[in-house]
Amino acid sequence: MSRIEEALEKAAKLRVDTTSVSQTSHNFPKRHVPPPVNGERLELKNQLLVTAIDPHTQAAEEYRKLKSVVVKLTKSASFLNMLMVTSSIGSEGKSVTAANLALSLAQEFDHTVLLVDADIRKPTLHTYLGIENKVGLSDCLLDGVDVKDALIRTGAGKLSFLSAGRSVSNPVELFTSQRIKDFFLEMKNRYHDRYIIIDTPPVLPFAETRSLSAIVDGIVLVAKEGLVTLHNIEEAMECLKGTAMLGIVYNEAAPEFHPDRYQYCREASA
Ligand SMILES: Nc1ncnc2c1ncn2[C@@H]1O[C@H](COP(=O)(O)OP(=O)(O)OP(=O)(O)O)[C@@H](O)[C@H]1O
Ligand SMILES: [Mg+2]
Repeated sequence: MSRIEEALEKAAKLRVDTTSVSQTSHNFPKRHVPPPVNGERLELKNQLLVTAIDPHTQAAEEYRKLKSVVVKLTKSASFLNMLMVTSSIGSEGKSVTAANLALSLAQEFDHTVLLVDADIRKPTLHTYLGIENKVGLSDCLLDGVDVKDALIRTGAGKLSFLSAGRSVSNPVELFTSQRIKDFFLEMKNRYHDRYIIIDTPPVLPFAETRSLSAIVDGIVLVAKEGLVTLHNIEEAMECLKGTAMLGIVYNEAAPEFHPDRYQYCREASA
């Protein structure tokens, strides 16, 4: 039995909670929800958020191309609004890709975007955005906090952000529960006119991403050049078989040599 199968079997055994968010929210004490930074414009400083910091670079242009492809693939007869960004293994650039994709969607006039950090094990989106991880996804799931009270309007275009929230001891249990499925389906319906971009843990080491992949409308798989192997990607694709795969982002790829593009060097390979 492979490591993934073992993890999934373990997760299935732990899958004891089948109660929906709406059914359970009244059972949990409401946590105090601090006011979000709504209305104030966040000062984005992280250089990795090129779409906001450096919109005229080739790297930002690559994210805009990604955005155009995503829009083309998801704005069909029915709007496929809930998308997940993942990768085969860790540190391939999921969070950077999710943030830049969400920012470039949010910069477009008619797209309101929700960016969700569903990597409760290792949340980083809030650090990239320069926001505290106070109340977020886990608090919505475990304490019945209403998602609209936890969303932070960033002021960067029409981008709102749901951070990961407090750490939980067993994310697999939470992510394979009926509660999280109901939560995201409720979110998808409530915000049916907006893109919801979900940042997740990598597919191969953890079971929760596979569980989420069955709920979302589309998956973007990030593959980092020089880090991930073809075998890893094949294994991840196997895990995601039957889900709505939109495509692969080849991240941090060395740019092809071209005199005009030479100056962009590594930056151009987003
Ligand atoms: N397009 C890019 N250009 C330059 N550096 C990048 C790019 N993408 C990722 N990185 C580098 O890789 C690091 C990890 O990126 P990121 O946090 O997005 O990975 P991740 O896949 O979300 O990691 P984890 O599995 O830990 O959640 C970044 O902090 C940055 O240094
Ligand atoms: Mg990450």
